[in-house]
Amino acid sequence: MLPGRQRANRDDGCAPLGQRQWSIARPLTFHSSTDALEVALTDDVLVVHGGTPLQGQIRVRGAKNLVSKAMVAALLGDSPSRLYDVPRIRDVEVVRGLLDLHGVRVTDGDEDGELVFDPANVESASTDEINVHAGSSRIPILFCGPLLHRLGHAFIPDLGGCHIGPRPIDFHMQALREFGAVVEKRPEGLHLTAPNGLHGTKFSLPYPSVGATEQVLLTAVMADGVTELRNAAVEPEIIDLICILQKMGAIIKVHTDRVIEIQGVPRLGGYHHRPIPDRIEAASWAAAALATRGDVEVLGAQQVDMMTFLNVFRSVGGAYEVTDARPPRLGSAGQEGGIRFWHPGGELKSVALETDVHPGFMTDWQQPLVVALTQARGLSIVHETVYEQRLGYTEALNSMGANIQVYRDCLGGTPCRFGRRNFKHSAVIAGPSKLHAADLVIPDLRAGFSHLIAALAAEGTSRVYGVDLINRGYEDFEAKLASLGAHAERP
Ligand code: EPU
Repeated sequence: MLPGRQRANRDDGCAPLGQRQWSIARPLTFHSSTDALEVALTDDVLVVHGGTPLQGQIRVRGAKNLVSKAMVAALLGDSPSRLYDVPRIRDVEVVRGLLDLHGVRVTDGDEDGELVFDPANVESASTDEINVHAGSSRIPILFCGPLLHRLGHAFIPDLGGCHIGPRPIDFHMQALREFGAVVEKRPEGLHLTAPNGLHGTKFSLPYPSVGATEQVLLTAVMADGVTELRNAAVEPEIIDLICILQKMGAIIKVHTDRVIEIQGVPRLGGYHHRPIPDRIEAASWAAAALATRGDVEVLGAQQVDMMTFLNVFRSVGGAYEVTDARPPRLGSAGQEGGIRFWHPGGELKSVALETDVHPGFMTDWQQPLVVALTQARGLSIVHETVYEQRLGYTEALNSMGANIQVYRDCLGGTPCRFGRRNFKHSAVIAGPSKLHAADLVIPDLRAGFSHLIAALAAEGTSRVYGVDLINRGYEDFEAKLASLGAHAERP
C-alpha cells in the first residue's frame, strides 16, 4: 500500500497520484491495464458502464473562473452585491468561507443560484482560521488587493488548485510590490501590508496570465492614481470581471494590444450581475457528446465565447447548432438559448491544434477533446502552450486502448516557451482506437472529466476513483450524466 494516506487539510484533492493523499475508508487493491496499482481509496468511486451515447439536454450556469473572482470583488464594495446563476461547486464554497471569515455576510438570494454579499462589517480573520482553507483553491491569492484596501493588511494561505505544473505566483507578487505592497513570506503563508498605501503603476506581464491580470485589476481599481497594465490577459471571464468592477464604479479602459488602463477611485459600491456561462463546462459536455457518438444540447452555452472551440469541433467532424435565446412575448413562451452538439455519424477527422491564451484554444478544453480525438482517423497533434505539464492524463487513456505519444518538442505549431525546457507538452494521437474499460484514478479537474468521458465512451465497466474532485468545477455532474442517459452509479 502506498504510504502516508492520512488526509491533510492542505490536500486540495488535485494532486497527481504520486502526491495524492486520501482518507482511508477502505484499503483496496486494483489493477489498471498497464500498471499494477495498489492504492488505498475512499468510497469516492463511480462505476461507469460505457458504450451508451449521451443524449438530452443539460444547462450550464455562471463560469467557475468568473464567479469566484466576482465574489472576491464584492469585498471591495461598501454596499451589498448580488450575483446570479452561481453554480453549486466547491470553489464557490471555498471563497464563500473566506469571505465569511472576513466579515462579509453571504446569504442566498430569492432566485435559485443567487448570492448576496454584504461587506458592511469587513474585519480581520485569524491566521489559523484562514489556514483551514489552505490548499483548497487558487482564488485566495486574489484577496491580496481587496484586503489591503479594506484592512491595510492581508494573510494568504498556501494555495491549491490543480497540479498541472509548478503554477508560480511571481507575477502576482511583482505586481503587488509595484503597487507599494510589502510581501513577507512566512512558513504559514504570505503576509502583506501597504505602509504607504497602494499607488497606480505601469506594469507589463511577462506572459498574459489570467490570475495576475485579475490581481492587477482588483488592486488598481482603488489604488491612488492610474495603472497601465501591458500584455494583459483578455479572456471573456476577465472582460466580465471588468464589467462587474465598472458596475461598482471603477474606471477601466481596455485598449488594443492587451493594454488595460485603470483609473483608481476612492470608493466602490456593490453590483448586480449575471455572469457569463461556463464555456469550459459547455465544451466538456460537447466533447462527451462527440466521444460517445451522442447528441447533447447545452442550454446557456454562448457561441461568442466558444468560437475557437466550435471551429475545432467542426473540423474534427462534430456537428453543432446554435439556438439563440428568445424573450417571452405575449402568447408565446420564451426560449433559452444554447448550443446543441452531436456526432453526425461516420468517422471523425484528425486535427492539429495548439492551446493558447484568448482568443486561442483554451487549455481547459484540451483534455476532454482529446478523448474524442482518440476516435478520429489519422494523427492528431495537440501542442499545449499554457501549462507545461498538462498531458500526464494521456497515460490513463493509453491504458484504455488509446494510442497517444507525448513529446518534449513543440509539435505542429509555433515554438512556445516550454520548447527548450524539457517538458512533455506535445501529444500525437493516432486513431481511431477502440477504448476498453479500466480502473482510473482522477488526477485533476479537467483531466478527471476526460477520464469520465473515456469511461463513458469505452466498452465495458470502468471504475473511476476520486470523482468527487469533479465537483470542484462541474455542478451536479452526476445528475447531469443520469439525465443524459449515462449508466453510471455509486457502488
Ligand atoms: N504564471 C507564471 N507566474 C504567475 C502566474 C502565472 O509563470 O505568477 C504562468 C503559469 O504557470 C501558467 C501560465 O502563466 O503557465 C498561465 O497561468 P494563468 O495565471 O493564466 O492561470 P491561472 O490564473 O492560475 C486560470 C484558470 C485556469 C485556466 C488558466 C488559463 C482560474 C481559477 N483558473 O488559472 O483554470 O486554465 O487561467 O486560462 O481562473 C481550471 O478551471 O481547471 C483551470 C485550471
